Amino acid sequence: MTAAGLWITLEGGDGSGKTTQSALLTEWLTERGRTVVRTREPGGTEVGVLIRDIVLHHRGEVAPRAEALLYAADRAQHVATLVRPALERGDIVLQDRYLDSSVAYQGAGRVLDADEVRGLSMWATEDALPDLTILLDLDPALARARLDAADKPFDRLEAEAASFHERVREAFLGLAAAEPGRFVVVDASRAPEDIAAVIRDRVAALL
Ligand code: TYD
Repeated sequence: MTAAGLWITLEGGDGSGKTTQSALLTEWLTERGRTVVRTREPGGTEVGVLIRDIVLHHRGEVAPRAEALLYAADRAQHVATLVRPALERGDIVLQDRYLDSSVAYQGAGRVLDADEVRGLSMWATEDALPDLTILLDLDPALARARLDAADKPFDRLEAEAASFHERVREAFLGLAAAEPGRFVVVDASRAPEDIAAVIRDRVAALL
């Protein structure tokens, strides 16, 4: 997005280590005197927190199109009230998940049309795209082992079958291959510090 700041999104399957990398990158950027707005989808705003509760914790059925619309509504509110203003101030927005998650999870995962899902998010955000998207790529079986070790209850998406998470992974890789200028793909099975170094190199080039 053309604005004074820099917008970086982190993508990847559940358990791929996005939170760890977001913390490490925030620390590094802050040490360099940059103002970092660390945020996430779903749930980066007050409205988003309410939507997050529905999409992750509702116990009954949520129809795939309703799910896609809920994520898109969260995104619309987030971009309009938090992301865009921060970028206009010149801040760095470091964001856990964005529209690529919708294309991967609602498109490939729930088997909705990928172009339609993407189009929905583009409408919701008035075509806002990040400057850089870091894809943490990990075999879902390894990710599942990490999530099991963390011993937290699974949310609605995490609880999906292995085949769902395989489709999500392939979709992310396809998105990265289609937009090599925006994406950097990092092997998330490596040590966290090694991953952080790869990410820092790529981000440094944009500062
Ligand atoms: P996340 O916040 O990464 O989960 P956690 O807090 O457990 O690390 O993401 C929540 C879930 O929402 C995750 O399983 C992926 C899913 N998701 C979608 O299905 N579509 C989307 O557009 C987004 C942003 C997330």
